[in-house]
Amino acid sequence: MINACVIGLSTIGLLHCRNLIKIKKTRLTHVFDYNSKLGNKISKKFKCKTSNNFKNILKDKSIKLFIIASPTNTHEYYVKKLISHNKMIYCEKPILMNLNKLKPLVRKIKSQRIKFCVGLNRRFAKPYIKIKKQIQKRKISTIRIISRSANHNMKQSIRNGGLFMDKGIHFFDLACWLSSSKPKKIISIAKPLSSIEYLKNNDFSDAFVVIKFNNNIVAEFMYSRANKPGNHESIEVLGKNFSINSDKYFNKKTYFSNFNIKLKDSYYKCLKNFIDTNRENFLLEGSNAQIICDAALKSAKTGKEIKLNF
Ligand SMILES: NC(=O)c1ccc[n+]([C@@H]2O[C@H](COP(=O)([O-])OP(=O)(O)OC[C@H]3O[C@@H](n4cnc5c(N)ncnc54)[C@H](O)[C@@H]3O)[C@@H](O)[C@H]2O)c1
Repeated sequence: MINACVIGLSTIGLLHCRNLIKIKKTRLTHVFDYNSKLGNKISKKFKCKTSNNFKNILKDKSIKLFIIASPTNTHEYYVKKLISHNKMIYCEKPILMNLNKLKPLVRKIKSQRIKFCVGLNRRFAKPYIKIKKQIQKRKISTIRIISRSANHNMKQSIRNGGLFMDKGIHFFDLACWLSSSKPKKIISIAKPLSSIEYLKNNDFSDAFVVIKFNNNIVAEFMYSRANKPGNHESIEVLGKNFSINSDKYFNKKTYFSNFNIKLKDSYYKCLKNFIDTNRENFLLEGSNAQIICDAALKSAKTGKEIKLNF
């Protein structure tokens, strides 16, 4: 049995708590949130332990697995602490805020053989798996991705790395996965599309991004922090004489629901896959996707095309 602790207890942290309970090999023994009132409330709800001080939890040798679901600007602190205690880590995307610190951290995770998973759960979402299967023997030319959320909170966007690192990362990763390739250049248009509130805080609310991949596939992305009908995401893959759209594979009833409802299964499967394979998952993919986010941001700020060299 793998004893586990979830750090950060908002919607995504609670989803992980419930999944740890569902997975037979794991047991939710601890939760932690820097808001200790919330920590106490959730520990009662799940009949597990908590502490006001994370160091006390860290000292507990019985805990093997930690899920980091606190804001992205806190990930670096937790990842480093957990590495030094040789823990198994499931880290919500992205790994950390600052790209310059990413490579040394990834090297450390590898050299210390830490079992680490980046939460790229959308790779486990049924609609996208169906598309991936259908294109296995087909030549695709274009990928079109839309991700628009309903009434997103700007401060939360900033805490989580901004539009590209928070929202874009899933979809840049999916495009790499679907194209079976890596980007060679990227261009973003974001300033003219974004709301003043976001721009004043060095973030973007809306963006259009185009990536050309090494195998010449082109991917277009449309991101937005506001969408009246609800949370909308869809992927269309085009080739000569065919197109496949993920819309037909999403449940109509939950089509505009939040991620924790419409993609609920994918979080469970991503975590279960990590537990079952018992090795590093998506470390390289998560790190590559973060490099793409950074390039998308640079392009959005400068208005210039950015070349990538994977
Ligand atoms: N995979 C996905 O689809 C998905 C979806 C949503 C969020 N996320 C990721 O999950 C993480 C959390 O995002 P969020 O939007 O829920 O964040 P949030 O800002 O809502 O905070 C989450 C929780 O963490 C707590 N917290 C804040 N600082 C903390 C600290 N230093 N230590 C411990 N707890 C702390 C907060 O009190 C809150 O309860 C981010 O990295 C985000 O990118 C992933």
